[in-house]
Amino acid sequence: MKQDVAVAAGPMTKNKHLIRWVEKMAELTQPAAIHWVDGSREEYDWLCEQMVASGTLIRLNQRKWPGCFYARSDPKDVARVEERTFICSLSKDAAGPTNNWIDPFVMRRKLKELFRGCMRGRTMYVLAFSMGPVGAPMSQIGVQLTDSPYVVVNMRIMARIGLPVLAEIDKDVKRVVPCMHSVGMPLAPGQRDVTWPCNDEKYIVHFPETREIWSYGSGYGGNALLGKKCFALRIASNIARDEGWMAEHMLILGVESPQGEKTYIAAAFPSACGKTNLAMMIPPAGFDGWKVWTVGDDIAWIKPDENGRLRAINPEMGFFGVAPGTSAKTNPNAMATLRSNTIFTNVALTPDGGVWWEGMTDEPPAECLDWRGERWTPEIGKKTGKPAAHPNGRFTAPARQCPVIDAAWEDPAGVPISAFVFGGRRSDTMPLVYQAFNWSSGVYVGATMGSETTAAAAGAVGKIRRDPMAMLPFCGYHMGDYFRHWIKMQRSLSATPRIFHVNWFRKDENGKFLWPGFSQNMRVLKWVVDRVHGRAQGKETPIGWTPYYEDVEWAGLDFPEAAFDQLQVVDRAAWRHEVMAHEELFINLHDHLPPEMVYERELLICRL
Ligand code: GTP
Ligand code: SPV
Ligand code: MN
Repeated sequence: MKQDVAVAAGPMTKNKHLIRWVEKMAELTQPAAIHWVDGSREEYDWLCEQMVASGTLIRLNQRKWPGCFYARSDPKDVARVEERTFICSLSKDAAGPTNNWIDPFVMRRKLKELFRGCMRGRTMYVLAFSMGPVGAPMSQIGVQLTDSPYVVVNMRIMARIGLPVLAEIDKDVKRVVPCMHSVGMPLAPGQRDVTWPCNDEKYIVHFPETREIWSYGSGYGGNALLGKKCFALRIASNIARDEGWMAEHMLILGVESPQGEKTYIAAAFPSACGKTNLAMMIPPAGFDGWKVWTVGDDIAWIKPDENGRLRAINPEMGFFGVAPGTSAKTNPNAMATLRSNTIFTNVALTPDGGVWWEGMTDEPPAECLDWRGERWTPEIGKKTGKPAAHPNGRFTAPARQCPVIDAAWEDPAGVPISAFVFGGRRSDTMPLVYQAFNWSSGVYVGATMGSETTAAAAGAVGKIRRDPMAMLPFCGYHMGDYFRHWIKMQRSLSATPRIFHVNWFRKDENGKFLWPGFSQNMRVLKWVVDRVHGRAQGKETPIGWTPYYEDVEWAGLDFPEAAFDQLQVVDRAAWRHEVMAHEELFINLHDHLPPEMVYERELLICRL
């Protein structure tokens, strides 16, 4: 059996509950060894070393990609599995119709069965992690037991882990969320391991009342890095509702004007709809002296301070970003961030030990190995239609390496939020930008958001679905109650953030994007900031306030007024159709819908 460095160290905590739980879970899962993760660089290096030896990781060309590794998953384990994700509240009603529900007693029996002996022949890692800076008032603590060293090294980039967190647990002041994780592939004595162990049977299970997570069968992304979607959204949304704060699928950025005025904005877009890109954007030509600073790219925990102002923290410490489409042109700051100490998963491997993905460069490499490890050339790609990188191929990169990381990104008090932005991927109907009339109409805008599905989740791509606040797969309780919580938040605020809706993806009749997007989105951000500070006009339309052409900064971009009008058009017929599509959601949630949602819908229909 392989040598395990930290086993001899024994439990790295005095917390009896934690030790007893680890013992109990080891008894259930029967690992060959237990490794308490200290979170050190040495341990990280050692784990990567082990995985290079076992073939799970490939060390990239260290001259070009210092500290970087490459992994390929099993082709059947490439994205979140929403169909296999469960909210097991005591009552089905508490989970609501948008979540999969199974009776918690039935589910616990099933999980016991699945986890019995599931870590045989593997090491069980005890991974303490803090979402948010260790010891900060808004932070939350979890302990993930996992049999995946790949998960441990990814978690070290994505969250604060190890000894400082265990010390925090020893203070015994915060509840710890237990997170069980197994790839679900025990090894018989002498059995050869595969490079990406997983199981065709997958269960991503949440018990909201007891604040527990059990994940089985997958080693990929949000299925396995349990601090992210499972904890920071599904469990945290429950905690937030109970405690009067918000856990949202939002990026956080700061816009700094040439005069040094800083305005923080939080934006919710569904998976693979542009959060990382917007969070790190570089203002285009014509915006001298303007800066955009990154606080977070995926999740925001937002709480009113003692003055009734919303403040947000990014509970994460790294970016688990979509690789395809990321380039020096579209997102130079992401490219700079992932240049070192990054783990790449399911992208292509070039002959010189580098990585490549669709959109990274104009010219694809003459030859490479694709995300499945098969030979790929541009000709093969053309012939088979197969991309070199999986569309949900990702990079795991440390946030501190981002050239525009905000000075306050780890401020335990968070940053003050002046605006919320909602946005989906819509080829029609939705204008580039509009502002909701007020808080409750803004909540309606977020609640009825629609977006085309993407490769971030297993299943069909490009189908429009309602994705309220980009939280459809991530809200850990009844969506109607979640809207109610949003409505109620206003009462604890002295100043409510303004609410906007954007759409970077509107297309013309030939299927071409009407808006250049990426850095040009700064023009929209500036209008948002100007509106927040009462500096720009708004034109009243049936759906909200839209910008006048003159109120948008056009320096550095040739974008005629006619093109802008086409981009901004609010087509009443299309909108009547849109409001009818909201019905689907409303019928589904009717018995938990706050009355404000019903009235807002009536008002919108009247205005149309
Ligand atoms: P998750 O990590 O899954 O939550 O995704 P995300 O919301 O962070 O999305 P991301 O920024 O990674 O963008 C996903 C895809 O959208 C990439 O392929 C981008 O190239 C593309 N994209 C982002 N911004 C724009 C834009 O302004 N215009 C267009 N046309 N595409 C964009
Ligand atoms: C998303 O799907 O919204 C992601 C990637 O950010 S994952 O961590 O897999 O959830
Ligand atoms: Mn996301």
